[in-house]
Amino acid sequence: GGIAPFIDSSYLQKQSHVPTGFIWPERHLVAALEELNEPLVDLEGFFKGDAVATEHATKLIRASCLSHGFFQVTNHGVDPNLLKLADDHMDHFFKLPVEEKAKVKRVPGGPWGYSGSHADRFSTNLPWKETLSFGFQANGTDTVAGLSKYCESMNVLALSIMELLAISLGVDRMHYREFFEDAHSIMRCNFYPTCQEPSLSLGTGPHCDPTSLTILNQDQVGGLDVFVNKKWHSVRPIQGALVINIGDTFSALSNGKYKSCLHRATVNRHKERRSLAFFLCPRDDKVVKPPEDLLRKEQETRKYPDFTWSDLLRFTQCHYRADEATLQNFT
Ligand code: SIN
Ligand code: FE2
Repeated sequence: GGIAPFIDSSYLQKQSHVPTGFIWPERHLVAALEELNEPLVDLEGFFKGDAVATEHATKLIRASCLSHGFFQVTNHGVDPNLLKLADDHMDHFFKLPVEEKAKVKRVPGGPWGYSGSHADRFSTNLPWKETLSFGFQANGTDTVAGLSKYCESMNVLALSIMELLAISLGVDRMHYREFFEDAHSIMRCNFYPTCQEPSLSLGTGPHCDPTSLTILNQDQVGGLDVFVNKKWHSVRPIQGALVINIGDTFSALSNGKYKSCLHRATVNRHKERRSLAFFLCPRDDKVVKPPEDLLRKEQETRKYPDFTWSDLLRFTQCHYRADEATLQNFT
């Protein structure tokens, strides 16, 4: 059982010390002392059909995906006004009184809605944040009002990045797109309040994304860290850029060549932080397996068995049930 029926950021900010449930084990708290050397990939040439620029972009993407699976993109085609609008929308939502937010409260174990620190479900390793999660399907109707245009735009970008990933792996350009056309994807808004003792807690604990591709729209505060070569590295926010990372399911689609890395979000004493993550998930009628071309070209054997996105979700739910801390990172 959890430690409290409901905790939101206004409650957290009123505490003089970090409540015990929010104190993380030391091994997860080791600070990032270096920045990640992820490339900033300019997508302008790719969108214009420029072959030289596209080759340059795919080379950068390939190198970063072979090493850690994180890169940032600029000239990504998402209207800056839309990014700003989505951020304002989030800011408005999280500042609502707790009773208002509770009206869209996530039912325990359910995937959608508002959650304040999961304190109603768990008692340890609680994340210093609030989230609002919902599903998205292109041309569907189940999107939270106000963010549907934003989601459409993220989906277009995510599918374009699937083309770039295919080119970078030397397989048919449209190969991966087909796994994701009209798929159900996930959108999550994160709000990290300031923290009195930031070295004791985490906004999001260490985890890998089980999904295929993540597009993160973060503000300029910073806090995202990636675990590479046995060390935490911070990802410096770049104004107007979006952070892209490979999830477990795309790693499987590349036969493990492209990495899905452990990452986390830290908190700080002075500035609250917001991030919006769009998670691209495969269609459920698609079997996740690497293309034959790739296996032949690289003379590789299969690293993972066939599975579908819902197989993976079922598996992770059973698996994580045994480990409360891991489940919180996943949810
Ligand atoms: C996450 O990976 O779930 C959150 C990342 C962030 O807020 O930077
Ligand atoms: Fe993540």
